[in-house]
Amino acid sequence: MVEETLNITAEQMQRRRFVITATAAMGVIGTGGIVVPFLASMSPSMAARSAGAPVQVDISRLQAGEQITILWRSQPVWVLRRNETILQKLKEENVRKLLLDPDSDVVSQQPDYAQNEFRAINSEYLVVIAICTHLGCVPTYRPELAPEDLGAAWPGGYFCPCHGSRFDLAGRVFKRVPAPTNLVIPPYQFLTDTLIEVGTSKNA
Ligand code: FES
Repeated sequence: MVEETLNITAEQMQRRRFVITATAAMGVIGTGGIVVPFLASMSPSMAARSAGAPVQVDISRLQAGEQITILWRSQPVWVLRRNETILQKLKEENVRKLLLDPDSDVVSQQPDYAQNEFRAINSEYLVVIAICTHLGCVPTYRPELAPEDLGAAWPGGYFCPCHGSRFDLAGRVFKRVPAPTNLVIPPYQFLTDTLIEVGTSKNA
């Protein structure tokens, strides 16, 4: 089934972040205002199927270092195409020692096929739910190295503006921040080299 897919560029996401963050903080994550009226016009069974439906993402035009946001189960999900610099950073011991769970030992935070050093099926692509594991805000994408406001040790990652939690570009949480666990990797699979389906797993 081909579902409604909302591709949003990083720039567009920046503009919408305040609204999404405020919505998430109230316990209604992401696009509740968009989805609910649509669902209200459907029968209960149709609405339930649509709300839980998998989402297909065409990544054929995603450049290295770019990230898009899609919606799955009314939650924002990032698809990041990581470049070689990012992948190297994820493996550095200097970065790993900053992390609370560098080996993704908390099994609830990812499917078993993403329990590896890149938290991914294909190391080049990160697919991760964009909801902070502290209280549900949407973190900001901060891929730059050592920016002034985040400090010299910042390896690129996600910064949550609500209470300062930090995650690397595999969604792994830093030590000594409010968020207790890594960001959640949803179930997903590659249908082709350039088509990801979020919400289903191979052989599931
Ligand atoms: S919600 Fe992200 S740090 Fe609190």
